[in-house]
Amino acid sequence: MADAGRHPNITLHTMSEVNGVSGYVGNFNVKIVKRSRYVDEKACTSCGECAKVCPVVFPDEFNMGLSSRKAIYIPFPQAVPSAYVINMNECMGRGCSKCLDACDKKCIHFHMSDEEIQIKVGSIVVATGLDPYDPREMDEYGYTRFENVITSLELERLINAGGPTKGELIRPKDRKHPQSIGFIQCVGSRSKRKGGQYCSNICCMNTIKNSLVLKEHDPDMEIMVFYTDIRAFGKGFEDLYTRSRSLGVQYVRGLPGSVEEMSDGSMRVAVENTATGRIEFHDLDMLVLSIGMKPSSSTRKIQEMLGLQLTSDGFFLEAHPKLQPVDAATRGVFYAGCAEGPKDIKESVTQGSAAAARAIRLMHKGLVTTEPITSMVIAEHCKSCGKCAEVCPYNAITVDVKKKTPAVVNSAACAGCGTCAAECAFGAIVMNHFTDDQILSQVDTLLAQKAGEKILTFACNWCSYAGADFAGISRLQYPANVRLIRTMCSGRVDEKFIWHAFENGAPVVLVSGCHIGDCHYIDANHWTEKRIARVHKKMEKKGIRSERLQLAWISAAEGVRFARVMNEMEELRRTVTRDEIEETVRLLKGKEDHENTDG
Ligand code: FES
Repeated sequence: MADAGRHPNITLHTMSEVNGVSGYVGNFNVKIVKRSRYVDEKACTSCGECAKVCPVVFPDEFNMGLSSRKAIYIPFPQAVPSAYVINMNECMGRGCSKCLDACDKKCIHFHMSDEEIQIKVGSIVVATGLDPYDPREMDEYGYTRFENVITSLELERLINAGGPTKGELIRPKDRKHPQSIGFIQCVGSRSKRKGGQYCSNICCMNTIKNSLVLKEHDPDMEIMVFYTDIRAFGKGFEDLYTRSRSLGVQYVRGLPGSVEEMSDGSMRVAVENTATGRIEFHDLDMLVLSIGMKPSSSTRKIQEMLGLQLTSDGFFLEAHPKLQPVDAATRGVFYAGCAEGPKDIKESVTQGSAAAARAIRLMHKGLVTTEPITSMVIAEHCKSCGKCAEVCPYNAITVDVKKKTPAVVNSAACAGCGTCAAECAFGAIVMNHFTDDQILSQVDTLLAQKAGEKILTFACNWCSYAGADFAGISRLQYPANVRLIRTMCSGRVDEKFIWHAFENGAPVVLVSGCHIGDCHYIDANHWTEKRIARVHKKMEKKGIRSERLQLAWISAAEGVRFARVMNEMEELRRTVTRDEIEETVRLLKGKEDHENTDG
């Protein structure tokens, strides 16, 4: 951190909050509100004279409230810049002014105010970190009801040489040295009821590490770890686990059902040992809750500002879990650390380095090259309805609905999903390289002969088409009459393509794409889902069996599923009679305006 503060190419905006981001890769405008620290950070030498005279005392957040600080303070010893800050909500202000008198350098200024700054950046790394789980929700463990139940973060501070007790472990209730200590794992993790369903990744190793530190402090200390299973999968981690057990740390498989406080302040833990099937009671001097991680509270705000995706757990979703693990779906945005999921320090550093390298790789040329697959507006056809801007997952389209000016596509921000072109009711958007004419010609060609025997399938490039490939290289059998039309995203599949297929004698049509939540264009496949539901309704209205149009989510790894879906499609195709196909063709061709187009 100190290195970052000194680096000539790094500007640290401390006490600052990003309030707005606009623009696109290479040209982001970022609005930052810099909170006032009321101390001139350049002049402050952190001598500490001000804090000595400050009469206001508050719990120290860095020490988890286990020690106190003044209203003028340094947030933590290694803070960069090493300058004091005043919490104005706590400070008595001019009525006191003792710090002003004590400061020789005269660097305290009560009149300072927040500042708004704007900067231009080419790429953005989102490293919003995490929030610790608040275990008060799990009342059965008695956190805050019982003083001798603490969290793993509080233990960290208690056993740290720079902590409130200078590294000496004491029981909060009577400040005695505990002879026995228990750890409860997975507090707020891997639970369907409370906290997150995911594994928080660090808690097992954190407990193992702490057990070793405690054994170093006091080899006779009795340590028990209550766990569901120990996940020690990192390099050297299994060795630490083995070492901890060899030092006498007891691992009890089972999470306690209740915790009671005894008259001497010790904690009675009731647990079903799932290894033996017995209910056990353990009296321990102190209990540590190994708390999990939650996504940072700022996640939603950043997600909305940058148009990013979240996983069902609330962490940021990467563009691709294997191939682009630090990239966001929005070009020029990267993730580092726990913003993307729970991680330990090593993984966070690895990901931070990868994100920095990805950003440098993108920016060092000075020019950003974009894919040619972007949409384009035909101004004279555009009715400025704003639908394209509404459906664009990247906010790449601007249209002034009030002034009725034609839509404008920012091709640097456009990722090429084609949803805008599929949703435009006026044919005013051309999706380069996947134009209406190109796709309709493919439909014509594929159905030119023996249309009634074909299974026409629209497959998105990233998942379903790759799923077909996977089925192929896995030598999986699927009907030979399947005909694929590739689009970049299922969001590109326009209603008119489907109608055109039926009009040309297709017995069945399948639209397939990535699973919901996995679309490579943020949430474009939500529009596919809506569109297919719309076409289903129209089909029913026209008297066409709606099941002849199918929607299936198939991922790149689901070759088996692809083959199975195709076999199901073949079964469905066999139920469609020649008369039914002809009736559909007659119905669709017979109308001048048969509402085949959108709207
Ligand atoms: Fe596959 Fe959007 S990329 S559905």
